[in-house]
Amino acid sequence: MSLPYTAEMMESIKKVEAGRAARIGFEPRRMTADEKTALLQAFHPDYNLDSFEEIKVGPNAGQKAPKELVEILQGESRIKGMDLDLTNPDYDVDVLVIGGGGAGASAAIEANEAGANVMIVTKLRIGDANTMMAEGGIQAADKENDSPAQHYLDVMGGGHFANVPELVEKLVCDGPIAINWLDKLGVLFDKDEDGRMVTTHGGGTSRKRMHAAADYSGAEIMRTLRDEVINRQIPVVDFTAAIEIIKDTDGKAAGAVLMNMETNEILIARAKTVVIATGGAGRMHYQGFPTSNHYGATADGLVMAYRAGAPLLYQDTLQYHPTGVAFPSQIYGALVTEKVRSMGAMFVNAEGEVFMHPLETRDVAASGIIRECKERGKGVHTPVADGIWLDTPMIDMIHGEGTLEKRLPGMLRMYLRCGIDMRKVPIVIYPTLHYQNGGIKVAVNGMSEVENLYVAGEAIGGIHGRNRLMGNSLLDIIVFGRNAGQQAGAKCKEVELKELTLSHVDDYSKMLADAGIEPSVVSPKLLPDYRPEGVTRLI
Ligand code: FUM
Repeated sequence: MSLPYTAEMMESIKKVEAGRAARIGFEPRRMTADEKTALLQAFHPDYNLDSFEEIKVGPNAGQKAPKELVEILQGESRIKGMDLDLTNPDYDVDVLVIGGGGAGASAAIEANEAGANVMIVTKLRIGDANTMMAEGGIQAADKENDSPAQHYLDVMGGGHFANVPELVEKLVCDGPIAINWLDKLGVLFDKDEDGRMVTTHGGGTSRKRMHAAADYSGAEIMRTLRDEVINRQIPVVDFTAAIEIIKDTDGKAAGAVLMNMETNEILIARAKTVVIATGGAGRMHYQGFPTSNHYGATADGLVMAYRAGAPLLYQDTLQYHPTGVAFPSQIYGALVTEKVRSMGAMFVNAEGEVFMHPLETRDVAASGIIRECKERGKGVHTPVADGIWLDTPMIDMIHGEGTLEKRLPGMLRMYLRCGIDMRKVPIVIYPTLHYQNGGIKVAVNGMSEVENLYVAGEAIGGIHGRNRLMGNSLLDIIVFGRNAGQQAGAKCKEVELKELTLSHVDDYSKMLADAGIEPSVVSPKLLPDYRPEGVTRLI
């Protein structure tokens, strides 16, 4: 297969190559705090006010959110007009976990461990989740030169000190326990000859605390968690979406309305406690960005929890991963793990210039790339999208031949299938929508402001403040997934359910009407719609 780069790209590569040897051992300058603030304000998509709107009803009324999110928060319920019998549920369990990713699986395992009768429902299959797609690793302060306190400072700094301190404390203090738990369950972490975990830096980390399984860390973790769910014989109802939270007449969460994704059949699940672990929102394609997220990342949990009365936190802050694929089109928007930069690859513009440190925090790095392309005109033009070079051949020059193949096999294979050998030529990247920094507000026990409604993983808002650091998402799905499962598994033992009701859904609909809002979509969205206009969608 011949290299698919255009003649213009090949000309630019000559400039990248000319400066490569001089870059080995060179440490680009870090930006000052003032420089970072100015850069973010000018170029980060979160500051693009035109793409936000005010939420008109519900607990966050008066606050802003991406337009696409406001549209689904103010959408029409999928059960509108249905006369549902809640007295004879199809499923009756202690703990209902909504979502089959890493957070949901961890929650279910712990609820099962607590002796609860737990069931997972997932709109796709268990493991069809952002966890599976996580590449670079999982942070935890478990080395001699590190500590949870050091990790805490990094998380807070990365999040612009907007993080909820108690949640960060839980995240970092439980970090080493989480790694140990995964190790014991069978996750094949990278280890050296002495059996010690190999750890690297990520953007914004002051210590090397990124534990990895090559560059498919999430897939390895998800494989292990899924095996554990299966071994414990925890029931998993797949291809079945939750579409509304059910409450009881005391206003506590008491189950969910489910919809079979193939037949549209409606089912009722009654539960003493409910865990929302529905993941992120990349498939909302905020501001038209491509995404690194899996097919089902449509913010469903936020919609359901919001209608049930749970406030959101930092719903206006998203993470655009600096290194999404900008070329070629087959893999447009896919993740190029930050580990590529941890291992030495630098950002280089079309003129062959290094324009920033490769391991600034993600929001800063993404903004720097956008500035290089949009303002400075030094982006690399490709037939798909403009971007800048990530100089991957530096990795083997720094660490020795064969390193990239050994430590980044997934990346190498992804590009080789497109005719690009990243050991020999640089790749073109541009920010891609990667993570929902905000989400449902929770207390440190994982409970939202709706009693008995717990949240785990990316659906939580507040852990990461306004910007998450690499590797803290895999950590948070384990720490807060386990936490929600333990808490929900214990709490269900004291719950006496009252009569089930969906009156809050009607009340919300009335609030919309009273505010003069005519819903323009049905929500939760469940799946992205990539069909051309005019083609009917069944779900
Ligand atoms: O770059 C990455 O490998 C992504 C990691 C993360 O989002 O934590």
